Amino acid sequence: KQPVIQIPVVFHVIYHTPEENISDEQIQSQLQVLNEDYRRRNADTVNTLPAFKKLAADTGIQFCLATIDPTGKPTTGITRTYTDSLGFTTDEAMKFTAKGGHNAWDANQYLNIWVCNIQNGFLGYAQFPGGDPAIDGVVLWYQTIGKFPANPYVSVFNQGRTATHEIGHWLGLEHIWGIKDFGCEDSDGITDTPPQDNANSGCPTGTINSCNNSLQGGDMYQNFMDYTDDACMNLFTQGQSAYMQAIVSSARPGLLS
Ligand code: ARG
Ligand code: ZN
Ligand code: CA
Repeated sequence: KQPVIQIPVVFHVIYHTPEENISDEQIQSQLQVLNEDYRRRNADTVNTLPAFKKLAADTGIQFCLATIDPTGKPTTGITRTYTDSLGFTTDEAMKFTAKGGHNAWDANQYLNIWVCNIQNGFLGYAQFPGGDPAIDGVVLWYQTIGKFPANPYVSVFNQGRTATHEIGHWLGLEHIWGIKDFGCEDSDGITDTPPQDNANSGCPTGTINSCNNSLQGGDMYQNFMDYTDDACMNLFTQGQSAYMQAIVSSARPGLLS
């Protein structure tokens, strides 16, 4: 069994309004959600469908706020930047000080998470392993951070699982239904997640057989890499865990030292 991997995280809070300047408490809550979800210590593991219980995994990956900044000085692991920008798109402006955001910390050593007002309806997005280090990391809409009531918003995305999902991408995971929307030919490349046609949403119950997958238990719509509501997702699989562990060693080895 592999030793637990501890990933240092920096949250770059980019705000225009006071609401966007989220509290330390909200960020602490997000860290707690990540550590519960990735270590399978989330309270809702009891909801995992019986067919998937034995596949559900402790990924062996956990997260902490950075304690030393790139210059070697002590840090809270949170930067706060006032911006003139009323909202950001996926053009990566939030990742550059010169564009109203904040530059990345060395992506070999930190997981950079930018928290801002994303204006085009995205909850968040991530860069996959192997890309430009200057934009490496995860971007999250400020209203998705942490878990209610530390996250004060009334929404089906107020339990901090957008971060769980996006960090899954950052560690190389595809959506559970595969590379392209619709179609049973493509896959996520993970053998223990059943083949699935397209995204599920809301809060499904019972068995959904989108791709002749009944022998594997049907769609694994409770997987963090589907599109269901925060309250209705609760697992990564053994296969996904092994994949993320391998990605850290191969594509993000600096995080291990
Ligand atoms: N739509 C986003 C993506 O494709 C995130 C979905 C997050 N889902 C959630 N229940 N928080 O990456
Ligand atoms: Zn996604
Ligand atoms: Ca699969």
